[in-house]
Amino acid sequence: MRPIGIEEIDRKRARCRNPLRREWEQLHQADSREALDEILRAFHMELAGQNGSASASNGEQPKPSDVKKRAIGDTLEDAEEVADHYNKRREVGIHGREESPIIALRKFNNWIKSVLVGTFARGRYDEPQGPRYRTRGGRILDLGCGKGGDLKKWDKVSPSALVGADIASVSIEQAITRHKENRQRYSGDFFAFDCFSTPLTEVIPRELLEPMFDNVTLQFCMHYAWESVEKARMMLDNVARYLRRGGVFIGTIPDSRVLRDRLTAGGNPDDRSFGNRYYKVVFDQVDTWPAFGNRYTFFLEDAVENVPEYVVDFDVFEDLAMEVGLRCIYRRNFAEMYEEGSRHEEHGKLLERMKVVDRYGSLALDEEMWQAATLYLGFAFEKM
Ligand SMILES: C[S@@+](CC[C@H](N)C(=O)[O-])C[C@H]1O[C@@H](n2cnc3c(N)ncnc32)[C@H](O)[C@@H]1O
Repeated sequence: MRPIGIEEIDRKRARCRNPLRREWEQLHQADSREALDEILRAFHMELAGQNGSASASNGEQPKPSDVKKRAIGDTLEDAEEVADHYNKRREVGIHGREESPIIALRKFNNWIKSVLVGTFARGRYDEPQGPRYRTRGGRILDLGCGKGGDLKKWDKVSPSALVGADIASVSIEQAITRHKENRQRYSGDFFAFDCFSTPLTEVIPRELLEPMFDNVTLQFCMHYAWESVEKARMMLDNVARYLRRGGVFIGTIPDSRVLRDRLTAGGNPDDRSFGNRYYKVVFDQVDTWPAFGNRYTFFLEDAVENVPEYVVDFDVFEDLAMEVGLRCIYRRNFAEMYEEGSRHEEHGKLLERMKVVDRYGSLALDEEMWQAATLYLGFAFEKM
């Protein structure tokens, strides 16, 4: 078990060298996008220079894995970078969130997650008492639950219990507080550990894993497991092992087709990047498109600062999921989810209630924010 807290990371950071991150932190006082862009540009130029001299000396192109090692150097592991980033994000409360420059995007993402919950949530039994009771009494496992931002979404389907886990220990403390303050009508148990490297049974007491879960959810986090096939398999084993037959696994991840299309169509070949004023994606390398460890650095205004992420090839995901008895029943880019949702009676009304659209039906996201939103897809799998 390895919960990762701020002090542990700071101690390790002091012993480590990560030029990209350190420089970014120094300059970030000014909170400037230009500063990050400048660092990323210089960093990747330097990297390209190193690669050039390596190939000149032995006549061979460096392998992607070599590029990755050079890019990171003697530094924190990626999972630690991720935990550190989320641990240090302040909980700003409901009023602070309203001030965010990407508040419209946050509301849109919350709507997406509510639609997934509303559409796919399962109750304790498969409809013995008719559709009204379809979702009642369900048990939920939320991996990568963060600060517990989805607790209220689950309230709507009257579950009986939720078990949440996240690698960031500070986020877990906040999730516990939020569950208490919300006076949730279902029980909540929270654990801090790396859910993509550790079996659930090593951390979560047996009595919380049984009876089996009816729903497993991984929102905006599964892509961190795609660092290696071992992590992806461990993550899927954790998802499937305690999910009952007929139970569902839902989630949201970056859409690999969109990542690839934007990189090819509008990407900047000099620094392997694309994006706009709200988001930026910088690939480590673009010579190959590996199934695992296909890493890029992600920046999202007021949310994600320069964190390593991995492409999830959906075909590979489906194949691995099938091995643990999970069958894909739904896959939609957020653009399609919005299109379908706005025509759906209930989800359409929810768009207005959650202030994703105004009362005339106009979307609150501007074009550039829409580009950031549609980088993602939603999915659902059923346990066979
Ligand atoms: C973008 S946040 C999403 C949080 C929450 N699911 C939501 O939708 O609001 C990604 C979360 O994934 C968590 N995470 C990343 N890698 C993880 C790992 N190996 N094990 C558990 N949680 C992880 C991060 O700490 C962070 O809280």
